[in-house]
Amino acid sequence: MGLVLGIETACDDTAAAVVDDQLAVRSSVVWGQKQTHLAFNGVVPELAARRHAEVIMQVVKQALDEADVGLDDLSAIAVNNQHGLVRSVVVGVSTARGLAVATGLPLIPVHHVEAHIFSAIMTNLELFDEHICLAVAGGHNALIHVRGMGDYEVIGRTLDDSAGEAFDKVGSYLGLPFPAGAQVDALARGGNPHAYDFPRPKMKDGTLNFSFSGLKTPVRMVAEKLQSPDGAADVAASFERAVVDVLIAKTLAAAEQKGVKQVSVAGGVACNTLLRQELPRAAAAHGIKVTLTPPKLCTDNAAMVAGLAQYKLREGAESKLDIDATPNAPLGKRAANYRPSQSS
Ligand code: KG4
Ligand code: ZN
Repeated sequence: MGLVLGIETACDDTAAAVVDDQLAVRSSVVWGQKQTHLAFNGVVPELAARRHAEVIMQVVKQALDEADVGLDDLSAIAVNNQHGLVRSVVVGVSTARGLAVATGLPLIPVHHVEAHIFSAIMTNLELFDEHICLAVAGGHNALIHVRGMGDYEVIGRTLDDSAGEAFDKVGSYLGLPFPAGAQVDALARGGNPHAYDFPRPKMKDGTLNFSFSGLKTPVRMVAEKLQSPDGAADVAASFERAVVDVLIAKTLAAAEQKGVKQVSVAGGVACNTLLRQELPRAAAAHGIKVTLTPPKLCTDNAAMVAGLAQYKLREGAESKLDIDATPNAPLGKRAANYRPSQSS
């Protein structure tokens, strides 16, 4: 049975995983860097790369140990070389190349965002067919029409901030440590989502694009005037409701526009409690089925990288030892650009 070791270092998570040829996750280790970046309220690329370099071999060893295998048991090594902070990606790429050269194993390069799309497919194999994927995180926020594996059309993307960035910034206004998405989510559970009527940017503009930067200022103004910590839960809940309303409206509009009845959600923001409750409910009313990627596969991880490589190997992918780090590479055979439009 073929086992693939995946390596992922797009941003501030150092990850390694072992996935078998039935797409079962044998191990998935994620070493986060929260403490490193805490004081800076955001990821410092130079520090992120240094931390990756310090821990990556330990993370690889742990992934092999937890899967109870050695390098000799592997059939290939896979790495994200196509999305993220360049210095971070370089660490994963050079580690994977080094291991491939030393062991003689094939090296399979993958795109981080395609791996997020694949994380939903690993959850529900029906998604090998046509569907819409809402890939929503800190580093990317796009609606992708997946016509089939490798055939992607980006039909919506953020024009400025991603939903994850908005969660992180609102968290900082509320005094929460970076990255704040999960804490804003937890805080929102005790708040009133109707306490503040925050804007739903671009919700009804007739496009499938997003814009979350305009939401920050109204939320910051309310957060600055809060008299007691109790009010923070109402701010969090009202903000979260606004973001989730937009994500749901655009995702359903995308499905309707393409006449597609299957939708998936992947990426860190796909962990959000309200989105996970409300999207399936809203979609069901339109006869649309939603696949919610399990939280462990939503945030950055290497199981999605190894899983995607398993698929590519089955389709005949060949080893490429001379890969480079090419962050922000377009996606799939149509070279779909999922980045904010001003940087395209
Ligand atoms: O996929 P990911 O780990 O990294 C990127 O590719 O960006 O996503 C991280 C993002 C962060 O912005 C984080 O705050 C957000 O996902 N996030 C959440 C939740 N959990 C993580 N946002 C909202 N609700 C959550 N429960
Ligand atoms: Zn990601």
